[in-house]
Amino acid sequence: MSALLFRNVCFADGRRAQDVLVEAGLIRAIGANLAVPDGAPVIDGHGFLLGPPFVDAHFHMDATLSYGLPRVNQSGTLLEGIALWGELKPHLTQEALVERALQYCDWAVAKGLLAIRSHVDVCDERLLAVEALLHVKARVAPYLDLQLVAFPQDGLLRSPTALANLKRALDRGVDVVGGIPHFERTMADGAESVRILCELAAERGLRVDMHCDESDDPLSRHIETLAFHTQRLGLHGRVTGSHLTSMHSMDNYYVSKLIPLMAEAQVNAVANPLINITLQGRHDSYPKRRGMTRVPELMAAGITVGFGHDCVMDPWYSLGCADMLEVAQMGLHVAQMTSLAQMRACFDAVTVNNAAILGLADYGIAVGHPADFVLLQARSPEEAIRLRATRLAVVRRGRIVAQTPAATAALDLPGRAGSVDWTLARST
Ligand code: FE2
Repeated sequence: MSALLFRNVCFADGRRAQDVLVEAGLIRAIGANLAVPDGAPVIDGHGFLLGPPFVDAHFHMDATLSYGLPRVNQSGTLLEGIALWGELKPHLTQEALVERALQYCDWAVAKGLLAIRSHVDVCDERLLAVEALLHVKARVAPYLDLQLVAFPQDGLLRSPTALANLKRALDRGVDVVGGIPHFERTMADGAESVRILCELAAERGLRVDMHCDESDDPLSRHIETLAFHTQRLGLHGRVTGSHLTSMHSMDNYYVSKLIPLMAEAQVNAVANPLINITLQGRHDSYPKRRGMTRVPELMAAGITVGFGHDCVMDPWYSLGCADMLEVAQMGLHVAQMTSLAQMRACFDAVTVNNAAILGLADYGIAVGHPADFVLLQARSPEEAIRLRATRLAVVRRGRIVAQTPAATAALDLPGRAGSVDWTLARST
């Protein structure tokens, strides 16, 4: 495989004027003024940010791009979305699921999003979505890592065949154990579902990622049970609580006990800013709660917190384009994470934190790692978020898999034509 040299880029950690040499799909060298191997193409980075690929820790690829099928969510609530998905499920075909998922993966690659953890609904005797997404996972493997979570959308105990179907999905190669305790009929059933699923994951040596407490109900406390069983079963670092929106509404004293428990259990947290801000608070008049979990407080406790996209054009959310910088920007605003360090933490929440949650090996820009990265038209992580920066080049295993040209102006003004420079931070 041929070599490739990226000349004059900066990194998220602040290093500037760096070159990156790629050979045989790996990063061979990083440094200033690297020699160009014979015949190797050189790409001028113009001092722009070379970031690791974006990672999405929470998505639903079986539902994506189904907006309007069979109708649109009128109330905008999570529960109508679930009901709507239930209406659509009998009409799904494997061909349509595969086609929509592949289209989304194209969008993802164009946006430098090269690893996605997707939940897949197992509450279907045919396991149609499971089969479709396992097929897609194999198809996209050369350019995108797709990790699948067996997700009992209709409730593990609420749906009579959910547990059996979830086990069948794991048998077929689905990677992670999912759950939805707040959707079970009672709090007790929710807690019992967490126990069953954590024990199943421990038996099979799998990771856990549950939709957990996706509600405005401050008494929805399944994350406590999830952290308890994580500790009891020794699953430290391998368990993720997704959404955790009830924490937004919880009593502060209770949270002061809860977050240290999560930290001790090394339970990861995933917020889904675009979805949480639109689905939650729908039963409120004014003031309306934001619904996103307590991201800065969780981060301050040392918990790995990621941001997920969750939905794109589906029964729950009508917008989105696989842009994890849009996700980071919304997370930054909703959590009021406006300091420089916090803005950079939001960039980490769509890159390194999510990679840790997925358990990706050899992630990040380092010698010996796979040559996977994104050249962004920005000069710092916070500028990338501000601009939702253009992905000038997306590289996977040393090969350029997507390119987007920089914006140009064609103004009829002397001296003003040419590239549009959105950046302000040249000297920092
Ligand atoms: Fe979700």
